[in-house]
Amino acid sequence: MAKLLVIETSPRGKHSVSRNMTRRFVQDWVAAHPGGEVIVRDLMDAGLRFVDAAWLQAYFTPPEKHTPEMADMLKLSDLLVAELLAVDHLVIATPVYNYNVPAVLKAWIDHVVRKGVTLGFDGRGLVTGKKASVLIASGGIYTEGSPIQERDIASQYLRLILGVIGISDVTFVAGGGAKAVDLGEQTMEAFVEKLGGELERAASAR
Ligand SMILES: Cc1cc2nc3c(=O)[nH]c(=O)nc-3n(C[C@H](O)[C@H](O)[C@H](O)COP(=O)(O)O)c2cc1C
Repeated sequence: MAKLLVIETSPRGKHSVSRNMTRRFVQDWVAAHPGGEVIVRDLMDAGLRFVDAAWLQAYFTPPEKHTPEMADMLKLSDLLVAELLAVDHLVIATPVYNYNVPAVLKAWIDHVVRKGVTLGFDGRGLVTGKKASVLIASGGIYTEGSPIQERDIASQYLRLILGVIGISDVTFVAGGGAKAVDLGEQTMEAFVEKLGGELERAASAR
C-alpha cells in the first residue's frame, strides 16, 4: 500500500497558499493511489525544539549508552525519522521566508538528518527508493526567466538536503506570486487551479 507523508509548515491555516496547494495535491495523490495512506505531520503542532547542547550530547552518544534523559531528548527526532522512512512519497509544503525555508522546516530537517540513520557514516544518503514533492508558496516569482531567479535559495537548499539523505527524485511546484491572493487580486481557488496540472503530475508520479 502506497504511503504519503505530508509536512505542513505554514502558520496561516486556511489562508495559507502552501496548505491549499497541499490540499489539492493530496486529493490528486489519493485518487492516483487508491487505498493509499496519508500521514500528516503539521510542524505548527509538533513541538520542535532547536538543536541545543543537551540534544547534541544525546545525538553524539551511542544509543547503547543513552541515559533515559538522552533517549527522551531524541524521542521526537526518532519519531520524525521513522515517519520519513516508512513512506514512499514525501511532500513538503512551505512558504518562502526571507528567501529561505521557515525556521520550523529547518528545525524538522535538523531532526531528520541523522548520521547513521538517514545519512551514512560514509556520507551516502540512506533514505533511498522514495520520491519527494516540494510545494512552495512565495510572494515573489523565482522560476526560469525571472530577474530574481538567483534568489531562489529555498528550492536550491531543499534539493540539496533531500539529495544528501538520498532522495533525488524531487519535483518542485512553485507557487510564485502568491501575494496576489493576500492582496485580493486573485482568489485562492484560481491561484491553486493555475497550478493544478503541475500538482496532479507530481501527485500521480510513480
Ligand atoms: C516573514 C515573512 C517573510 C517573507 N519573505 C519572503 C521572501 O523572502 N520572498 C518571497 O517571495 N516571499 C516572502 N514572503 C511571502 C510569503 O512567502 C507568502 O506570503 C506565502 O504565500 C506564504 O506561504 P503561506 O501562504 O503558505 O503561509 C514572506 C512572508 C512572511 C510572512
